[in-house]
Amino acid sequence: MIIALNHKSNFNQEEFLNYQEEFKKIQTDHTMILCPSTIHLAQGKTSSIFLGAQNVSAYEKGAYTGEVSAEQLKSYGVSYCIVGHSERREYQKETNEEIGTKITRLFQNGIIPILCIGESKEEREEARVKEVLQEELEMATRNLTEEERNRLIIAYEPIWSIGTGVIPTNDEIHEVFDFIKGLFPNTKVLYGGSANEQNIEELKQVKTIDGYLLGGLSLHPDKLKLFLDRLN
Ligand code: 13P
Repeated sequence: MIIALNHKSNFNQEEFLNYQEEFKKIQTDHTMILCPSTIHLAQGKTSSIFLGAQNVSAYEKGAYTGEVSAEQLKSYGVSYCIVGHSERREYQKETNEEIGTKITRLFQNGIIPILCIGESKEEREEARVKEVLQEELEMATRNLTEEERNRLIIAYEPIWSIGTGVIPTNDEIHEVFDFIKGLFPNTKVLYGGSANEQNIEELKQVKTIDGYLLGGLSLHPDKLKLFLDRLN
């Protein structure tokens, strides 16, 4: 399975180095993708994990103060990059179109995008889940080749589940995964949103899940180890 760890804006330098010491002790056969804060990427690569970024510039290179290009990420050993996380859609007002451009930049540099999609609580209550997901998927991937669509990773993260401790029922996840895989039959799909060492026993019953995008849990190597042990 693919296990992607989204540290978000956590850890100062000392905390990150301490984390890595603990993290290195975890033995697993799963594909681990560590996505630290951009500032830690240069210190992030170890032999047993893939390195992921949490964002990329939509611009190629040049006079874009504060931006980090896909080419720069690549030169630091980054193989994956999260795009379209709901926090960036909300706080940085990222649009599906901009996310699509970022995906193109990543593929141009041989980096695999992890495209986050998900509905709000309101959209779920209004029975608009499939409509929202389809729009996010289609608008962000419309310029991709068949081969790129297959290499892309999709992360389904219901917004109401992120950081709340509330997760969808297995039936709800099943329904959404069947829908996404109907549109993208050869693409790996991850689940993200309050997945932890307690609820993994339940989540792992959903056999269509190809992996997990972990937020809060990823900051605690001891709990992460329990999660991985129980996933096996
Ligand atoms: P939590 O696991 O903290 O809910 O965060 C999920 C997430 O946003 C991963 O990208």
